[in-house]
Amino acid sequence: MPSLLHIDSSADLAHSRSRDLTAAFADAWRARGPEYTVVRRDLHTVPLPHLETSALHWAAADRRADETVAPEAEQLRQEVIDELLAADVVLIGAPLYNYTVPSTLKAWIDRVHVPGVLAGDVQPLAGRPVVTVVSRGATYDAGTPTETWDHGSPVLHLILGTALGMKLYPVTVSATLADRIPDLAPLAEHAAAEVADARTTLERLAATLA
Ligand SMILES: Cc1cc2nc3c(=O)[nH]c(=O)nc-3n(C[C@H](O)[C@H](O)[C@H](O)COP(=O)(O)O)c2cc1C
Repeated sequence: MPSLLHIDSSADLAHSRSRDLTAAFADAWRARGPEYTVVRRDLHTVPLPHLETSALHWAAADRRADETVAPEAEQLRQEVIDELLAADVVLIGAPLYNYTVPSTLKAWIDRVHVPGVLAGDVQPLAGRPVVTVVSRGATYDAGTPTETWDHGSPVLHLILGTALGMKLYPVTVSATLADRIPDLAPLAEHAAAEVADARTTLERLAATLA
């Protein structure tokens, strides 16, 4: 039973590009057959709390004697980690908010980046496919003054790819605000083409991964 973990974090429930694109992936995944199941985690509608304590960053065996974790907090971290471990493919919608990932997605990252459990010497998720769908209101093209301003995509690469060792399939759409911000209006056609390309790429990945 190949299982997809479908995570969204956009706070826009009406016009979100990342939600639209992750849904296209999930639809194509389900179209492979009834055994292709989907587990859903919507970090915006059901947000995870911020870390209750810094001790949660560590495996229980690596905590100092005075670092204690409430059983409910321990249980929630375990639930989130088990859910990730159970997925054959992970799909994450990650809009760019204030040049980084949404705080709801950051709260999830804070619970899964645990040295000694999913990262560091152990990497039980090594090689596991993770598809990231990053939607950005503006543009960050190489050679432009804003080239280095997207600090969200590097976080996803560092945590999922480097720390957890997962195989990253990044898909990015930019200038999504071309229909809203007059200065970006000339990019509207380009932005629409990028979304169409992203959809094709995601449907192809959904039909082949796992
Ligand atoms: C709180 C907030 C902060 C944003 N900050 C940025 C930003 O720093 N850079 C950018 O290019 N777009 C920014 N945007 C625009 C979003 O990245 C853009 O609308 C994107 O399409 C959102 O993803 P979604 O369509 O999946 O909701 C921001 C939007 C919101 C709501």
